[in-house]
Amino acid sequence: MAEDHDPHNISRRKFMTRTAIGGAGLIIANDVLSSNLLAATPKPATQTMMGVPFEAREQVRMGIIGVGGRGSSLLRDLLAVDNVEVRAICDLLPEKVERAQKAVTDGGQPKPAGFSGGEWDFKNLNQLDLDIVYIATPWNWHVPMAVDVMKNGKHAAVEVPAATTLEECWDLVNSSEATRKHCVILENCCYGSNEMMVLQMVRDGSFGEITHGEAAYIHDLRGVLTANEGEGLWRRFPHMKRNGNLYPTHGLGPVAHYMDIHRSDRFDYMVSVSSNQASLSAYVKSNFADADPKRAEKYICGDMNTSIIKTVQGRTILLQHDVVNPRPYSRLNLISGTKGAFADYPARVFMDGQKEDDWQKIDAFREKYEHPLWKTAGEMARKTGGHGGMDYIMNYRLMDCLKRGLPPDIDVYDAAAWSAPTPLSERSVAENGAPQKFPDFTRDHWKARSDSPLFAG
Ligand SMILES: NC(=O)c1ccc[n+]([C@@H]2O[C@H](COP(=O)([O-])OP(=O)(O)OC[C@H]3O[C@@H](n4cnc5c(N)ncnc54)[C@H](O)[C@@H]3O)[C@@H](O)[C@H]2O)c1
Repeated sequence: MAEDHDPHNISRRKFMTRTAIGGAGLIIANDVLSSNLLAATPKPATQTMMGVPFEAREQVRMGIIGVGGRGSSLLRDLLAVDNVEVRAICDLLPEKVERAQKAVTDGGQPKPAGFSGGEWDFKNLNQLDLDIVYIATPWNWHVPMAVDVMKNGKHAAVEVPAATTLEECWDLVNSSEATRKHCVILENCCYGSNEMMVLQMVRDGSFGEITHGEAAYIHDLRGVLTANEGEGLWRRFPHMKRNGNLYPTHGLGPVAHYMDIHRSDRFDYMVSVSSNQASLSAYVKSNFADADPKRAEKYICGDMNTSIIKTVQGRTILLQHDVVNPRPYSRLNLISGTKGAFADYPARVFMDGQKEDDWQKIDAFREKYEHPLWKTAGEMARKTGGHGGMDYIMNYRLMDCLKRGLPPDIDVYDAAAWSAPTPLSERSVAENGAPQKFPDFTRDHWKARSDSPLFAG
């Protein structure tokens, strides 16, 4: 394999040469960047999955693993899309499987097969004749489940974040390439009405040359994290083990689209720092009795994690994560270029040369730039609900790509690169903000990408 098609090998060789010459104490910044790649262990590349279309079909036959809060909401959306058959449901809890089966029969479809025989029963669901399997389980299950889905000849659609370590990111990439099955990350925020409209404006050159973006997940989840049900049963535990950005994709996905990441640009490296941890422990202290086991828990994830990503084309992205402080929800969702800027929460636009030195409301741009997908399916999206309609648009579009035989909008390379800030931020925080290189999950294919731009089909 050519050197420039395997950055992992180059880095390893350079790193070993330089440490041999200079001694371990003399590693300079570039070597530190290169050495970060040692954690990633890509197997030899097979053919890329970039731009590979789904095989066309009239009906989509699907299964869902995990029908808690998120899986149930996805199911509601999917039942509203034409020519989608929900044929199988799996969850640890039989009552959740039964509830989901009833939702399907209430929606006028035959009763789907149910699997609730333990934590590996999803493997039996994966033996069925299905086109795609959705995975909406706790984070530690995403990769083992998605890999098994692909190995059994089906496409996988995984909730966010798709993976939590670099090794897991590579497992998804390697499995997708080896099985020739897609692994899509269900990043619903890319399908928001504002996000899709801003993407149209970026494409039209409204903001000029894009140089900077800002992305975040700022959401007060203290109640959810400490509940005795749902995400409270698993989502607090990473806060005791990891210090970094645990949930990077909601903010980052849309900004990656504005910047054409994996089309004409790529994440290069990132630096990250965390504040001290204070809010989750204070919340537990004020809301739970001394005898509650939560009072003995030790949280190490800083309240606010702040990273900066540098892209290969020189752009910067501010990326933040805070799920424990009392403040209003925000994904920042900002993009700035040589002719203007867009910022969200609330959605607003500033154009170079405008008379008032203040933001304009985005509504003035909606008529010209509303995305065709929202024009077609917006009414149903708003009615079905999920997160202002973005969930329906995402599901509608993915099912449409499957039926029409288009490539997915978001592929395994995006799933890996958007999830990688979790391990990279963790490592940077542990090394006092030292830069961490992103593996090129595309193995250099992003440079020669020839399929149509995103959402063009
Ligand atoms: N995209 C979004 O807007 C969004 C919103 C919420 C959650 N999520 C993501 O969705 C996923 C699920 O979150 P949730 O809120 O539904 O959590 P949840 O705890 O409500 O549901 C998870 C479900 O998975 C089941 N489960 C656990 N292990 C299993 C196994 N081995 N086999 C089968 N079922 C298993 C549980 O019984 C539970 O019903 C997470 O990855 C989360 O980050 C995404």
